[in-house]
Amino acid sequence: MVGDWVFPPGFLWGAATAAYQIEGAVADDGRGPSIWDTFAAVPGAVEGGASGATACDHYHRYREDVALLGELGLGAYRFSTAWPRVMPDGRTPNAAGLAFYDRLVDSLLEHSITPVLTLYHWDLPQALQDRGGWLERDIVSWFAEYATTVHSRLGDRVQHWTTLNEPFCSAFLGYGNGVHAPGLRDPRGALRAAHHHLLAHGHAARALRANGATSVSIALNFSPALPDGPDDHDAVRRFDAVHNRFFLDPVLGHGYPTDLLDDLAHLDGLEPAVHDGDLAVIAEPVDWLGVNYYAPTRVTSLADPTEPSNCPLPGLRGMSVLPPRAPLTVTGWEQHPDSLTDLLTHLSQRCGIPLVVAENGAAFPDVVDPDGRVRDTDRVRYFAEHLRAVHTAIEAGADVRGYLAWSLLDNFEWASGYGPRFGVVHVDFTSQRRTIKDSGQFLAQVAARNAVPG
Ligand code: NOJ
Repeated sequence: MVGDWVFPPGFLWGAATAAYQIEGAVADDGRGPSIWDTFAAVPGAVEGGASGATACDHYHRYREDVALLGELGLGAYRFSTAWPRVMPDGRTPNAAGLAFYDRLVDSLLEHSITPVLTLYHWDLPQALQDRGGWLERDIVSWFAEYATTVHSRLGDRVQHWTTLNEPFCSAFLGYGNGVHAPGLRDPRGALRAAHHHLLAHGHAARALRANGATSVSIALNFSPALPDGPDDHDAVRRFDAVHNRFFLDPVLGHGYPTDLLDDLAHLDGLEPAVHDGDLAVIAEPVDWLGVNYYAPTRVTSLADPTEPSNCPLPGLRGMSVLPPRAPLTVTGWEQHPDSLTDLLTHLSQRCGIPLVVAENGAAFPDVVDPDGRVRDTDRVRYFAEHLRAVHTAIEAGADVRGYLAWSLLDNFEWASGYGPRFGVVHVDFTSQRRTIKDSGQFLAQVAARNAVPG
């Protein structure tokens, strides 16, 4: 059709999920407790007192969910393995847990769907948290052992591997401002945890490669900083350093951003954790980068550069995060597709490796109409605009190989519980009934035509 935005041949279309957000079955087949089971049980930690105990019951309904992916004609599925299912105490393999992912992968392959496997999407075995979790340097070898165990079982059928999902969130929200599990609030600890995440990534990437993996990545969340006015460039620099460059730069072999080290020098949190040789491990080359993008962040400079910031990393100073501008999603995130174009263009130049949009999507107040249809026109528009933004970046030279929508299913949205719905498939959490939303049909059409309508 004239005016369609046609994507390069072979572009990968898919959807993403994460184990704790969809699986439920938290005590089945020997699964051990995770830090999210523990955290969700703390009164007030999660909206409505919700937990992932049942979630989408995907553990028992995975065949139905894979069939939905097949029905939508999506060629790829990004999911995570739950460390506490694979190793209930964090160290000892559990045959029944591994067998579940074995069945899931086989089911995907039966539908000709390419698995994209994430090893860590925030559900640390509680047993390892009891030994210090991400604050403990030994986690680096525990994670590499886990990565090797999963790869040894599934590596014959799963080609694409992602070590960590959004270490920014698990380190800074988990150990810094306490909004995520394990709910600790300690800026120094957050920096130490962040370093151990990156080091664990590097060791695991090496271990995966030694085990024969050829497609290894990390998924980072990016939020481009937008200045409020002409005097806000220092605020942009400070926010960008914490939110975007802190994790990317070491992975690319550039070490931690020196400007950030200066900004955070008063914390004395990072340097003691960094040992000789660590940066070389973190710089283990990755084959592609997973880019998770939802929204930009508006920032402004504070008159006093030592004044504390409201940024999620406690300890950052001299800048302030401002309220987002309309149009917003249900989670209060600003819809700004141009930021995705700019991000992909910039990342492609800076990284020099293929990019995959590993997450992008939005929560809106969906309703199932009396005729059984979910007319989520806002989400359809969000996807269309953001896919055009991806296309524009590709036209400008960015090497983007795929787009994985967040999410296949409505699911457990962490501290926000079951309120925000991100799925392209609606889930009734009482009956567990699945209904493909209009946005699911839209993605199916895009995947079938390899093009977004103009
Ligand atoms: C990023 C996380 O990876 C995912 O788990 C979460 O549900 C989405 N963002 C939406 O907040």
